[in-house]
Amino acid sequence: MEKKRFYITTPIYYPSAKLHIGHAYCTTLTDIFARYKRLRGFECYFLTGADEHGQKIEKNAAAAGKTPQQFVDEIVEGFYKLWELLHISNDDFIRTTQDRHIKVVQDIFSMMLKKDDIYLGKYKGWYCTPCESFWTDTQVGEDHVCPDCGRPVQIAEEEAYFFKTNKYVDSLLKFYDENPKFLTPESRKNEMVNTFIKPGLDDLCVSRTSFSWGIPIRENEKHVIYVWLDALTNYITALGYDSDDPSKFEKFWADPECEIIHILGADITRFHAIYWPMFLESLGIRKPDREFVHGLLMMKDSKMSKSKGNVVDPFPLVERYGVDALRYYLAREITFGQDGSFTPEQFVERINADLANSFGNLLNRTVSMINKYFEGVVPSYQGRVTEFDGDLESVIEFAIKNYENNLDDLKITEAITNAMDIVYRANKYIDETMPWALAKDESKQKELASVMNHLATAIYTAAMLLKPVLVTASDKAFDQLGIEESLREYSHIYKLDTLGGQKVNKGEPLFPRLDASIEVEYIQSLMNGNK
Ligand code: MSP
Repeated sequence: MEKKRFYITTPIYYPSAKLHIGHAYCTTLTDIFARYKRLRGFECYFLTGADEHGQKIEKNAAAAGKTPQQFVDEIVEGFYKLWELLHISNDDFIRTTQDRHIKVVQDIFSMMLKKDDIYLGKYKGWYCTPCESFWTDTQVGEDHVCPDCGRPVQIAEEEAYFFKTNKYVDSLLKFYDENPKFLTPESRKNEMVNTFIKPGLDDLCVSRTSFSWGIPIRENEKHVIYVWLDALTNYITALGYDSDDPSKFEKFWADPECEIIHILGADITRFHAIYWPMFLESLGIRKPDREFVHGLLMMKDSKMSKSKGNVVDPFPLVERYGVDALRYYLAREITFGQDGSFTPEQFVERINADLANSFGNLLNRTVSMINKYFEGVVPSYQGRVTEFDGDLESVIEFAIKNYENNLDDLKITEAITNAMDIVYRANKYIDETMPWALAKDESKQKELASVMNHLATAIYTAAMLLKPVLVTASDKAFDQLGIEESLREYSHIYKLDTLGGQKVNKGEPLFPRLDASIEVEYIQSLMNGNK
């Protein structure tokens, strides 16, 4: 049975530096999905946040001459601004330095200790400070570099607590088998099993003594909880797990009727897909339904990352091109689930081809023609009058079905192409039906009315399907088509006789065509840090 409530999360980002377009990508795609589900009538809880502890943040704060708390407070302000700019519709924002989180993480640690799932030992191994990860000899190879980010690792030795991973391995593998949709794309699961689980898992280090910016362990205050146990538990501490008010936890986690989805980048799959289910099992709590791993944005073959300094800042892009253009580009250009690269040429081309020339132009032409031929009033549905009406209707119907199936399965890029199929078909329909010729022929007025009605329906449907992506432009398209408020609900989609009698309003072009050479140069200058 389909679940009618759902909980969706992004990773909580490190406030070690300003966020870049890679983080914006993950949060935007999660937001698109949350908005879609709300549009379809689901009750949704959408969480994002900041992962504020760890050695890297301690170091960066010291280098900036600030306390770690001052340092993260300032950076997290920027997170809030970015999410507002991108119209992110999260219901909550968790910070791991909040009391609601700290106390519960300490309780969780105590529970695991009491259960003998955590023990005190000694750790000697390779450590990557930027990634906050320990690695084995095999993983760092002869060059002693981090397998995730490729930077040099250092030997670290200290007394530490460990989580007994081997106690939970068999049950994790069984869980993978019984829940084939848990970890997708499928290739990620194979990677987990073959690269990490089969060669044998080491117990996971869950505390550190060599730095102090973390949550202290109550039973042994010289230790702080190692970032991943602290970080992953945010998904339940934000819901009030183990607190005075666990109502959200009951509703959005414990209740099997709620679907739980984590969205995350490929760089942190191991922690989410292996250790997180183990932690939950140790606590006796159900596991999430789905973990969807998206690809990473690259810059010239290397992962875009703050510490490499090869990042694109989303703020100036939104300022110049608008929130819809950036959201659309991210969701459409980079197939959700695969790596992609940001290039100024593709950015400008995508906006021009899809938004300016196809979607915006279709709206513009249609509104002008309804003004010119029908005094601004959308003619009512006439049935299938021209020889092309039937085909356009079935393209619309088929697109809606595919869009819903794809989005329900988190195939966001594919779903957008389904919506755009309507736009492309409608543009072709104008060429086929030639309304300007029909207008000149007295005997073709019924055909002309049918064409205008079909075009309005096509734009209305495409704008509705694109609403989770185009958070301002879809409503502007509805305004220009004169769609009354009550018809802006998804439940009205594809009723052919919906639009007759609506009064159109000609407006500004939604997406003015960009001059490619000027804009490519502008974006390049941002990337070179010249602005
Ligand atoms: N704090 C941890 C996550 C803890 S979740 C319990 C962390 N933070 S992070 O800020 O380094 O990155 C988090 C996520 O940001 C990545 O998993 C990914 O979703 C996104 N991205 C960071 N860099 C990215 C790209 N270059 N491209 C796409 N997404 C990127 O890891």
